[in-house]
Amino acid sequence: MNLLEYTFSGKKVTYYLDDSLSSLQNKVPVNRSVIITDETVYQAYAGQLAGFQTIVIPAGEQHKNQATVNHILDELIRMEADRQSFVIGLGGGVVTDIAGFAASVYMRGIRFGFVPTTILGQVDASIGGKNGIDAGIYKNIIGVIRQPEFILFDHTLLQTLPQEQWVNGFAEIIKHACIRDAQLFALLEQKKLEDFQQDHQLLAELIRRNVDIKSGVVAKDEFETGDRKLLNFGHTIGHAVENTYELLHGFAVSIGMVAACSISGTVSGFSVPEQERVLKVLQQYGLPIYLEFDKKRVFEILKMDKKRVREEISFVLLKTIGHAVIQKIPLTELEELIQKMSD
Ligand SMILES: NC(=O)c1ccc[n+]([C@@H]2O[C@H](COP(=O)([O-])OP(=O)(O)OC[C@H]3O[C@@H](n4cnc5c(N)ncnc54)[C@H](O)[C@@H]3O)[C@@H](O)[C@H]2O)c1
Ligand SMILES: [Zn+2]
Repeated sequence: MNLLEYTFSGKKVTYYLDDSLSSLQNKVPVNRSVIITDETVYQAYAGQLAGFQTIVIPAGEQHKNQATVNHILDELIRMEADRQSFVIGLGGGVVTDIAGFAASVYMRGIRFGFVPTTILGQVDASIGGKNGIDAGIYKNIIGVIRQPEFILFDHTLLQTLPQEQWVNGFAEIIKHACIRDAQLFALLEQKKLEDFQQDHQLLAELIRRNVDIKSGVVAKDEFETGDRKLLNFGHTIGHAVENTYELLHGFAVSIGMVAACSISGTVSGFSVPEQERVLKVLQQYGLPIYLEFDKKRVFEILKMDKKRVREEISFVLLKTIGHAVIQKIPLTELEELIQKMSD
């Protein structure tokens, strides 16, 4: 059964698992649909988009901003898109975040769906309804929560994905295992990246499992008042280093997870052997575990974090592998913990 349905606050989202881009034309009204994609994805897959109108944006996080949204909205107006129109975001997390955002504000919201084309997009960014853009160095600081109608997963699209983007996506997979699924963590320990790249069935199962973890967490807490915060494991410090050092999202999250493991060691009793297992798996999948960062500067950015409420920050900590908790840490204490982290 390759069709899954998840309901988020009463809104049903259809997941077409292990499906194909070519079947998109049977799922949406082609003449009323506009595909938003980036230049790289467009170059690789334009041949499969016959009949669709397209808006092609430049690739890269630096374009996930208001200027690109304005361009998309101008194009939708020029194409005379109306309330019956359907927007499809075809691309990585940058494209789906921005396409979902543009579709959510155009005419106060028109329907949209996603075809994620990166690992990170398929296991994380396309799921959960967070759509948004950056403002300068502040990541995802402007946005809405609104669910797509569907998400279509086509694993063959990953064949053109550069190696570093595979590695990038595995950071979120490892994150999911750390916070929710000790068995998945053990599977990741046994395998290596090439195993998943070479075995379609293994990859399809991995993606399905991650889709389930993320969707399950979000379905219980769409508006992030509780458990959804767990998905931010590694992201508080990760986001702070991401734009400062222009790292790929997953690479930054990897650094953030290492820092969060160390803080968990002090605050929530996460054992040293388990901390070491996390570091080992990150390295096994080619992720960085060390970055010499300007702690003072990173802390200044961290203070702006959306998870900050007055002088405290909600921090995701591990108790054991597969079991994460949320704990409020006063900013002053966090500053000390970061300063104390070994160089
Ligand atoms: N909304 C959410 O819940 C959520 C969750 C996690 C991450 N995100 C966001 O996702 C973004 C990162 O997503 P990403 O890592 O997918 O980055 P991305 O969208 O920038 O894609 C990475 C690169 O791969 C290229 N690419 C995409 N698909 C390809 C394919 N099939 N073949 C060849 N090249 C391809 C893109 O053009 C781009 O250059 C960040 O902006 C992050 O904030 C959002
Ligand atoms: Zn992330």
